[in-house]
Amino acid sequence: MASKVHLLFRVLLIAAVMQLHSVIVVGEPQVPCYFLFGDSLVDTGNNNRFVKAEKANYPPYGIDFPQGVTGRFTNGRTAPDIIGQLLGFSNFTPLYSTVTNEEIDKGVNYGSAGAGIREETGRNLGERISFDKQILNHQEIISRLWRLMQDNQTLTNEYIKKCIYIVNIGSDDYVNNYLMPSNYSTSSIFNPDQYATLLIQQYSQQLTALLHLYELCQILLVVK
Ligand SMILES: *[C@@H]1O[C@H](CO)[C@@H](O)[C@H](O)[C@H]1NC(C)=O
Ligand SMILES: *[C@@H]1O[C@H](CO)[C@@H](O)[C@H](O)[C@H]1NC(C)=O
Repeated sequence: MASKVHLLFRVLLIAAVMQLHSVIVVGEPQVPCYFLFGDSLVDTGNNNRFVKAEKANYPPYGIDFPQGVTGRFTNGRTAPDIIGQLLGFSNFTPLYSTVTNEEIDKGVNYGSAGAGIREETGRNLGERISFDKQILNHQEIISRLWRLMQDNQTLTNEYIKKCIYIVNIGSDDYVNNYLMPSNYSTSSIFNPDQYATLLIQQYSQQLTALLHLYELCQILLVVK
C-alpha cells in the first residue's frame, strides 16, 4: 500500500514538473496561431474605435497591465491573454481592428464587449461586433491569409487546422437582452427554457459555420 502511494506521489510529481517545464520553456509557441472570439472577457480594444459602445479605455482599467489602459475590461491580463502566454506566444494577439498582414499569421482577436450570440444583443450599449459578424471578419482574415500564402489551398488549410480557437460568448444574451424586458422582447416571447434552447441552437450553428469556414471561404473565393 505504502509503495503504491509512493508511486502515485512520484507520478504526480513528474506530471507537475512536466507542466511547470512546459510553462517556463521559451521558444516556438505550441500552436502557430490563436484566434479569439467573444465579448468583454475577450475584447482587448476592438470597441475603442466606436463612438458609442461599451468601452474600457480609461483608468482604473489596466492599472496592473504593463501597457496601462488598452481597452481590456480588467486591471491586468484577460484569461485568453494568459492562455496565449501559456501556449508560448510572446506577444498578445493583435486586434481585428488594427491587425496588419504581417501579424495575421499568429492569430487575431475578434472580441467585442456587449456582443452576443443573437444579433440584437447589446443594442442598448451602442455599437458592438456580434458573434455572426466576428465569424464574417474571420472569413475575411482567412482570405487575406490565403493570398499571403500565394493562393496555396493546401498550405493554408494545413496551417489553419493547427490553430487554437477560443470562444467566450452568451452572457450578454441574458444581461443585455433577456433580462432587460423594457428594451428587448425576448422575455415576453420565450420562457427561460425556450430561450436557452434557442441560444444553444444558434450557438451550435455558429460553431459549425466556424468549423467549415475554411472550405466555405475557398468556395467563395473560387466563385469570385
Ligand atoms: C430601455 O428602456 C427604457 C424604459 O423603456 C428606456 O427609458 C431606455 O431609453 C431604453 N434604452 C435604450 C438604450 O433603448
Ligand atoms: C502548396 O503547398 C504544399 C504544402 O507545402 C506543397 O506541397 C505544394 O507543392 C504547394 N503547391 C503549389 C502549387 O505551390
